[in-house]
Amino acid sequence: MDKIQAAIGKARAARAAATAPDPASAPPTSQFAPDPASASRSTGPEQRAEAWRPLATFAPKARQMARQRIVTFATTGQSLPGEVAFGVLRTKVLREMRANGWKRLAITSPGANCGKSTVTLNLAFSLAKQKDVHTIVAELDMRRPSLAKMLGVKGKTGFDTVIEGKADFASLAVRPRPNLAFGLNYSRAQSPAELLQSPTVGPALARIEAAYAPDLMIFDMPPMLVNDDTLAFVGQVDCVLLVAEAGTTSMREIDVCERDLAAQTNVLGVLLNKCRYMEKNDGYGGYN
Ligand SMILES: Nc1ncnc2c1ncn2[C@@H]1O[C@H](COP(=O)(O)OP(=O)(O)O)[C@@H](O)[C@H]1O
Ligand SMILES: [Mg+2]
Repeated sequence: MDKIQAAIGKARAARAAATAPDPASAPPTSQFAPDPASASRSTGPEQRAEAWRPLATFAPKARQMARQRIVTFATTGQSLPGEVAFGVLRTKVLREMRANGWKRLAITSPGANCGKSTVTLNLAFSLAKQKDVHTIVAELDMRRPSLAKMLGVKGKTGFDTVIEGKADFASLAVRPRPNLAFGLNYSRAQSPAELLQSPTVGPALARIEAAYAPDLMIFDMPPMLVNDDTLAFVGQVDCVLLVAEAGTTSMREIDVCERDLAAQTNVLGVLLNKCRYMEKNDGYGGYN
């Protein structure tokens, strides 16, 4: 673990030294921030609450959430192993994103099954415990959609139709918490690669942000080393969290992915998931 983290740190430091931007040239705002004219018209807390209210609510079942390892779901009772680690992740993500004025976070990994969707849901429910933080989660792993199944939601029209500009977010959003909404997919999309590169994506995301003023949008992405879907999209986000699977993902894979991502966006960190030999936090703690 220490070795892996030291190696990640070393690779990152070397890359940062080679590509360090001039701090004066990097204003602390999202490049996707609305233009000042629309920002001045933008939502205060009451208008935002008003906009979120019509979004369909649903109540995931606690047993289903436990089965899917969503340890941050429960709002009362004893802390589950791993929950504290996600609290720490939430704090770090919020601090970093707020400090930089970032709003859009993509979660990806080198290979499949590293735990992207599990991390996405845990981070989302952890964020929702902060009442003032509004989060929208969008599923973009459209070849292997899984969030709806994990949450136990059934539906027909997927979030792919929103990014195609064919449907409104409001028509299909589901909201398990007053301040947490999802855009889900219920079947594999027709042409995921083309969709993620389509010129309709940027305007669709901007419309959602203008209407619902989320503090964060989180995108559950496909794995990077399987196809180009993620790299085709990351130009649309402010930052990325890379999830690695302890014991499976190699250092080389992490390094290749981090380098490719860093060329297009900000890499927030690498989260080492499934660390079985961590003592107290049940394998979610290796965020660096
Ligand atoms: N920390 C963990 N410990 C054990 N199993 C995990 C952990 N995180 C995820 N999993 C399991 O690994 C599998 C893949 O997780 P998933 O989140 O769907 O990965 P991805 O979205 O990267 O494909 C699921 O069965 C999930 O329950
Ligand atoms: Mg997934």
